[in-house]
Amino acid sequence: MASVSITSLTKRFGGPRSDAVIDDLQLEIPQGELLVLLGASGCGKTTTLRCLAGLESPTSGRIELGGNAVFDGERRIELPAEKRSIGMVFQSYALWPHMTVRKNIAYPLKVRKIKDGLRDGWVEEVADLVDCGHLLDRYPSQLSGGQQQRVALARGIVARPDLVLFDEPLSNLDAKLRMQVRADLHELHERIGFTSVFVTHDQDEALALADRIAIMRSGRIEQCAAPDTVFEEPATDYVAEFMGMSNRLSLTRGVDGWSASGGAPVRLPVAADVDELTVRVRPEHLAIRGGQDVVHGHQVPARVTGTVYGGSHVDVSLEADGRRLQARVETGTPGSRAAAGDRVVVEIDVARARYFDPATERAVAHAPVPEVVA
Ligand SMILES: Nc1ncnc2c1ncn2[C@@H]1O[C@H](COP(=O)(O)OP(=O)(O)O)[C@@H](O)[C@H]1O
Ligand SMILES: [Mg+2]
Repeated sequence: MASVSITSLTKRFGGPRSDAVIDDLQLEIPQGELLVLLGASGCGKTTTLRCLAGLESPTSGRIELGGNAVFDGERRIELPAEKRSIGMVFQSYALWPHMTVRKNIAYPLKVRKIKDGLRDGWVEEVADLVDCGHLLDRYPSQLSGGQQQRVALARGIVARPDLVLFDEPLSNLDAKLRMQVRADLHELHERIGFTSVFVTHDQDEALALADRIAIMRSGRIEQCAAPDTVFEEPATDYVAEFMGMSNRLSLTRGVDGWSASGGAPVRLPVAADVDELTVRVRPEHLAIRGGQDVVHGHQVPARVTGTVYGGSHVDVSLEADGRRLQARVETGTPGSRAAAGDRVVVEIDVARARYFDPATERAVAHAPVPEVVA
């Protein structure tokens, strides 16, 4: 196990004027941490992993593993992949079909000539760890998808690498199995604490697994923090959207306070020297009131455009002043009986909303206790 330090890492696939797929990336990962790299498709997650593994040659920057440079653009250091102590687990299990489970798991030990591991039963040990000890003599085609991915997991950690890289390893599994293998992986990490970078585009997976989440956007890290921090206090408008604060409203400052168009002014728990604010709110933090009278500043008039029944909740689509809003209300509450075409009032939970400066897209400090004034 080792720490990872990435400094000013840049990768361009074309010439010096082409767009940087990884753009001056900085990241410090302490030993034993499971860091989740979370971002939309195409933001550079796989390329980052490939640079760490030595499968891709970065354009510039520095990567250290356990304090030793494995890549340094200036000093022209570039350790080949097989000399880096790194395990990898991919989306496709990529097991060798003609090899037994035992041989598949042992493969990294063979390639890296780790004789101790072959002699001292590391394969059996790690197979037991992922509940595959009884499958060692089978071939991959004789295993279920979940078992295959567990074997791939065992192969990734068998050589006791300094770092384990995961590239969306659960995305080929069906929903139930994904949850199960995710829980197993979480437990395994708690138990043996390997340093790892886990790539996903799935917010729930990131929250469930990560010690810290790094949100990546266009080759840069937008925010890197503990899961609850990223969820509760997104640093930017982009992170807020990515973490489920899907409703976005614009407010302007007037003499009586902040207001959305059509809404009454409201005093908000923010102290910012700006004249406009972007408000981000989760669907579950919007309430629906009957009638059309806007009496409080944290209310805006809206029209219901559709509803989707979800069992314990109802998702209500709304339109307010040309903007689409999404509310999630508990089944049985008055708001859950809203129907398409209804004119209603949407109430924003201003204490749980988050506020951003539209010019910089960065979060604006908010006070813990809001003061809502009619
Ligand atoms: N070998 C390559 N040559 C050219 N462009 C590439 C290559 N690999 C990846 N890219 C581009 O780099 C960007 C990031 O890709 P990738 O790292 O695979 O993203 P992610 O894993 O986040 O979906 C994409 O725009 C992709 O098209
Ligand atoms: Mg990818």
